[in-house]
Amino acid sequence: MMTTLIKLIIGITLSLTTSSETSYIRSENIAAIASKSTKADTTKVAAYRILDNKCNTCHIKRNKRRVFTLENMTSWADDIYTQVFVKKRMPKGKKIKLTHTEYQQLLTWITTAQNQ
Ligand code: HEC
Repeated sequence: MMTTLIKLIIGITLSLTTSSETSYIRSENIAAIASKSTKADTTKVAAYRILDNKCNTCHIKRNKRRVFTLENMTSWADDIYTQVFVKKRMPKGKKIKLTHTEYQQLLTWITTAQNQ
C-alpha cells in the first residue's frame, strides 16, 4: 500500500516536471518562430503599403496586370528591384516619388524576399 502510494507520488512528480519542461521548450520555440515571422511580416507589410500607395495608385489605371497584393508581391520582388533600383524607371513619371525611408524599406523587403 505504502509503496504504491510512493510510486504514485513519484509518478505524478515526474510527469509534472517532464510536461512542464516540454511545454517550456515548446513555448520558447513558438516565441522564436513568432518573433521571426513577425519581423518578416512587418517588413513585408511596410513594403506592401509603399507598393499600394505609390505604385498601385497608377497601376490600377495604367498597368492592371501588375497591381501588387500581399499574395503576389514576393513573386515580383526581382522585377520591382530591377525597375526601381537598377533601371530607375519606377515609380513612373515625376509626380510620384519615394522617400529615402521608402527606398530603404523596399530594399529591406526585397533582400528578405530573395533569401526565402
Ligand atoms: C504613374 C504611373 C506609374 C507609377 C506611379 C508606377 N508605375 Fe510601374 N508601370 C507603369 C506602367 C504604365 C507600366 C507598363 C509600361 C512600362 O513598363 O513602362 C509599368 C510597369 C511596371 C513594371 C513592369 C516593367 C517591366 O518591363 O517588366 C514593374 C515591375 C513596375 N511597373 C513596378 C512599379 C513599382 C514598384 C512602382 C512603385 C514604386 C511603380 N511601378 C509605380 C506605371 C506606373
